[in-house]
Amino acid sequence: MAGTDTGTTGTTGTDGGRERPVVIVGASLGGAKAAEALREAGYRGGIVLIGEEHERPYERPPLSKGYLQGKTPREKIYVHPPQWYAEHDVTLRLGTAVAAIDPAAHTVTLADDGRVEYAKLLLTTGSVPRRLPVPGADQDGVLYLRRVEDSDRIKQAVRPGARIAVIGAGWIGLEVAAAAREAGAEVTVLEALELPLLRVLGREVAQVFADLHREHGVDLRFGAKVAELTGEGGTVSGVKLADGTTVAADAVVVGIGIAPATGLAEAAGLEVDNGIKTDRHLRTSDPDVYAAGDVANAYHPLYGKHIRVEHWANALNQPQTAARALLGQPDAVYDRVPYFFTDQFDLGMEYVGYVEPDGYDQVVFRGDPATREFIAFWLSGGRVLAGMNVNVWDVTDPIRELIVSKRVVDAERLADPNVALDEV
Ligand SMILES: Cc1cc2nc3c(=O)[nH]c(=O)nc-3n(C[C@H](O)[C@H](O)[C@H](O)COP(=O)(O)OP(=O)(O)OC[C@H]3O[C@@H](n4cnc5c(N)ncnc54)[C@H](O)[C@@H]3O)c2cc1C
Ligand SMILES: NC(=O)c1ccc[n+]([C@@H]2O[C@H](COP(=O)([O-])OP(=O)(O)OC[C@H]3O[C@@H](n4cnc5c(N)ncnc54)[C@H](O)[C@@H]3O)[C@@H](O)[C@H]2O)c1
Repeated sequence: MAGTDTGTTGTTGTDGGRERPVVIVGASLGGAKAAEALREAGYRGGIVLIGEEHERPYERPPLSKGYLQGKTPREKIYVHPPQWYAEHDVTLRLGTAVAAIDPAAHTVTLADDGRVEYAKLLLTTGSVPRRLPVPGADQDGVLYLRRVEDSDRIKQAVRPGARIAVIGAGWIGLEVAAAAREAGAEVTVLEALELPLLRVLGREVAQVFADLHREHGVDLRFGAKVAELTGEGGTVSGVKLADGTTVAADAVVVGIGIAPATGLAEAAGLEVDNGIKTDRHLRTSDPDVYAAGDVANAYHPLYGKHIRVEHWANALNQPQTAARALLGQPDAVYDRVPYFFTDQFDLGMEYVGYVEPDGYDQVVFRGDPATREFIAFWLSGGRVLAGMNVNVWDVTDPIRELIVSKRVVDAERLADPNVALDEV
């Protein structure tokens, strides 16, 4: 079954009679799921999965929730058990960064100068946290959260009574704030905009998260302009704002967004614009190179444009399409409606849909947001663009159906919990 086999549905090329493998760059959720999908699709040729992290592929959502809180054990975060890779004849090269792609020669160059040939290449390089561009941001105690070792560092810092300043009230900021409060730390969140998660949720629903955090004792400060991180002996001691206020801190957690890891693709001459641009099959501007997950800015048939989604479900599902497409299956099209979830304090929610900032003209609540048991819908021209169920479960299928149908709905019936969602 190893690298000399052409595979049942394989499209691997040959080089002097040797079969070239499918190479996947980025050994996280997206990369591991791609390897799995290739085998599930019946491909029997070589698969080389290359990742610069030293851990075998793992999932990131627990890093700001259960794993950070000590409730999810480490062995639960991995995508596959350790033996899975050998059992499925996947060559896993960890601690190995890819330094360059040569699309003409169909090779990738490794940081240690080695080279790997490919028949088809899949880029699942994900994204990297944006760094805080202020003086003092490189001191000890300034923490980011992307990798498992980052979560371990934050876990060390969020001791009872510790003063934690969180910069950014996005998903990382709010989930870390909740975990830190539950660990007994004093938490101040400094957000540049007027509300948390404002660009994703809009004013109406963002307020729910502001209320939730304040009720749990988080000191939320909006319109904050961070000027500097103060320190003593190379260790951070606080955050200085442009208005002169200082927030004392034993540790500072920065969650101010990510940038897609497009460097390799750009240097190789692939089309890059807010991520690696792909068509509906997740094929890049080079027909032998595909992209999936956080890094892909993929054409989405439902929306009629390119969208880049920075969430778990996208990295879970896109690789199946990419794997089938690179094996030459023409019906492999990625058209799933985006989905994500969060858990903060006693609020659990799921969100399905896609709305650009200011892309809606109406928000309809089914249930009272003050009770934290409700569904919110974002509409434009009477059509549902997205829905978020908060502490209400098993409704994502009918919400997705409302979105995909693009039908104009009656807002009063949408708000009425006595009307079934598929009868709105
Ligand atoms: C703390 C945290 C919590 C999250 N919680 C949620 C959640 O609750 N719900 C949700 O929907 N989403 C959540 N997300 C987002 C979700 O985890 C991401 O969307 C997902 O990880 C994207 O997967 P990916 O495989 O595309 O990329 P990544 O997970 O970013 O993986 C990319 C991998 O590629 C490697 N790589 C990059 N460049 C190279 C190179 N040149 N050579 C070799 N390897 C390379 C990287 O080291 C990395 O291991 C969370 C993210 C974080 C950080
Ligand atoms: N539950 C989930 O889906 C989940 C959980 C954790 C992380 N993630 C993903 O991880 C990635 C990183 O999350 P994130 O929270 O860093 O990004 P984000 O984009 O969700 O939020 C960043 C926040 O930081 C604010 N900000 C930006 N610059 C600032 C500054 N200088 N000072 C103060 N505030 C500033 C923004 O206004 C925004 O509210 C995202 O892709 C996110 O989708 C998702």
